[in-house]
Amino acid sequence: MKTRLSVNVNKIATLRNARGGNNPNIIELVKKIESYGADGITVHPRTDERHITLQDVYDISKVVKTDYNIEGYPDVRFLNIINDIKPEQVTLVPDAPDVITSNRGWKESDLNMDIKSIILSIKRLGSKVSLFIEPSISMINFALDYDVDRIELYTGDYARLYGDNENKIIDKYISVSEYAQKNGIEVNAGHDLDLENLLFFKRSIPNLYEVSIGHALICDSLIYGLEKTIKRYLEQLK
Ligand code: PXP
Repeated sequence: MKTRLSVNVNKIATLRNARGGNNPNIIELVKKIESYGADGITVHPRTDERHITLQDVYDISKVVKTDYNIEGYPDVRFLNIINDIKPEQVTLVPDAPDVITSNRGWKESDLNMDIKSIILSIKRLGSKVSLFIEPSISMINFALDYDVDRIELYTGDYARLYGDNENKIIDKYISVSEYAQKNGIEVNAGHDLDLENLLFFKRSIPNLYEVSIGHALICDSLIYGLEKTIKRYLEQLK
């Protein structure tokens, strides 16, 4: 099965914000990313707007032709955005507002009935809901109980061990993905995936539905150019 590539464009906004103008132009780059074959665009608006701004989220929603994935912690501000835009996919992450980047997925101790009813309200808008989780069977059971469509496996731990001990850590991701598939939940993955560690992950998880990649892909495009970089990632996801 082909795995879809959603490009997280936060880093493009970070670069633009460094100078305060509109270079690079994120809207033009979203169009290019789609024209080079990406299957989706991801944004993660944070309250301090240090990369993607609220305005960006709305501006991108007007041009995006592929699947729009908006991720974030489900506070009131985030839910208002989701309500307005009704993107194809909403990925819920457990981040505290001050973290530099998502550094873990949901754990059992984070979940409560509020999250369950939020998930239901997002699903009623017609958006697919994905829960960014630590790779564990018990989190899949929560995902089932909470009736999410997809889970996104946090791959930071995998990426850290890749090159050293990937055969050991991959077993956990495989068993969790198989269990999710058996129970009708689609499997996404993301965080610190790159051209080095992606192929092994993809080959190990045959039912991998989508990866969301930002940091490494934008860094690679400084070397190879955006078009060639996206094609290299797509090649690995075939
Ligand atoms: N998935 C989620 C839920 C994230 O929060 C992030 C980072 O914003 C990513 C994927 C992409 O991670 P990276 O930038 O390391 O590719």
